[in-house]
Amino acid sequence: MDIRRIDVHDDALFEAFFEIMRAAELFERPGMPMWSHHEAAVIFRAEDPDEETRAYAAFEGELMVGIAAMFLPLNDNTDKVYAEVDVAPDQRRRGIGSALLRHIVSETRAAGRSTLLTEAKYAFSRREDHPYRRFAEKHGLTLASVEINRALALPVADDLIQRWVDEAAPHHAGYRIETFVDDIPEELLESYLYLLNQLAVDAPSGDIDYEPEGQTPESFRIHQQTLKEQGRTVYATLAIDEDGAAVAHTELVIPSGDPGNVYQWGTLVRQDHRGHRLGLAVKARNLQVMQAAHPDRRRIFTCNSEVNDAMVAINERMGFEPIDLLAEFQLKLDR
Ligand SMILES: CC(C)(COP(=O)(O)OP(=O)(O)OC[C@H]1O[C@@H](n2cnc3c(N)ncnc32)[C@H](O)[C@@H]1OP(=O)(O)O)[C@@H](O)C(=O)NCCC(=O)NCCS
Repeated sequence: MDIRRIDVHDDALFEAFFEIMRAAELFERPGMPMWSHHEAAVIFRAEDPDEETRAYAAFEGELMVGIAAMFLPLNDNTDKVYAEVDVAPDQRRRGIGSALLRHIVSETRAAGRSTLLTEAKYAFSRREDHPYRRFAEKHGLTLASVEINRALALPVADDLIQRWVDEAAPHHAGYRIETFVDDIPEELLESYLYLLNQLAVDAPSGDIDYEPEGQTPESFRIHQQTLKEQGRTVYATLAIDEDGAAVAHTELVIPSGDPGNVYQWGTLVRQDHRGHRLGLAVKARNLQVMQAAHPDRRRIFTCNSEVNDAMVAINERMGFEPIDLLAEFQLKLDR
């Protein structure tokens, strides 16, 4: 077997790479969200000032049998590599995953990074002994954080959403709640980016130590362009305080390549503005606006740490139901 870095601009190679990624993601999880070939190609081919992306593949002769991806943050969390290892379902249990993981570990070391993070999704019933967990633990990775994937069936009755909006309203009288599609006004950008960058630190993350992300107005604009190229539409609802600063946010993403599905991205209320039901307020309003514009969408998917009580309580209140779990594994390397 030969493992090598692949040129993501080579259409045939990237097609094979993506097919393995898709097959691994949906194996034993049919119908779960999955980005399209186009959406993935845009990310793997993008020049992102905040993150370097690398694609690797394992070959037997000409046949691609497994893949790995590495994401190296460049402006924050520079001790870390986020990685993915996927083996084609009909090629498993032959040592391919192990070889790919060893390769990624050595690339992580070579890049001067000390923490490798990777995730796996599987059923609650196999929480303790799923093959993906056994695989990770056999290679010395430890379970660092457990998140739960949840889904909300659409449409949600309009009067129910309005009830949440009305229930939250008296608690946040001093704040404006506003929704923006695909763009954030210049005057809100700095306070909005503070929220986006803070999310990794404020949300529970088990044994993983994050520092705030380093997204800047310039890199944010580049990310927006990438989303546009992917054909994604982003609904962001913000709570804005009396000084005109964004102090809470939530995003829903409509992927062009994943019909019927909507992705919930981050939600954060700044610590000094908690206790005003701003979390429910921004989420309910965002749902209201998104649903009216996209009646074809059938489910929203969200993922939260299982110990994130505040966020989970809001999601349960809105009717999100558990689907499966997302386990995050960590390997600490000696430098
Ligand atoms: C996890 C994954 C990469 C393993 O790939 P693989 O090529 O089958 O792995 P290997 O053949 O190298 O297996 C190595 C060890 O993992 C464990 N393992 C892997 N599959 C297993 C299974 N079905 N049952 C029990 N143990 C299993 C075993 O300890 C195995 O060693 P052994 O065969 O000597 O008993 C593959 O199942 C996959 O693509 N999963 C989806 C993506 C994913 O979750 N990746 C990240 C996991 S951290």
